[in-house]
Amino acid sequence: MSATRVCALSELEQDTARRVEVDGVPMAVVLDGNGEVHAIGDTCTHGDISLSEGFVEGDTLECWAHGSAFSLSTGRPLNLPAYEPVPVYAVTIDGDDVLIDPAVRKEVN
Ligand code: FES
Repeated sequence: MSATRVCALSELEQDTARRVEVDGVPMAVVLDGNGEVHAIGDTCTHGDISLSEGFVEGDTLECWAHGSAFSLSTGRPLNLPAYEPVPVYAVTIDGDDVLIDPAVRKEVN
């Protein structure tokens, strides 16, 4: 499938995660302090918790349940108890539209 519009860029609040779903895939979309938009898998890898209900701290999104903070760039948890990464999706900005294709994962090192 092709990229789907998930929201308007102007709707995103800086340093606040927004839950979106594309083709049944839940994602957390974050506009960071540098104006960059990130999309990572919304489900914490430690438990069935929506990461978009957590807290944005710098370039991480922290799970409210037990405090694992996931990198918005790599999807990796930076602290326990989670140890598996969440997927990172490529985001395309087209004018004021935020587009994501769930089939396209961002290359991370
Ligand atoms: S459910 Fe997210 S850290 Fe435990």
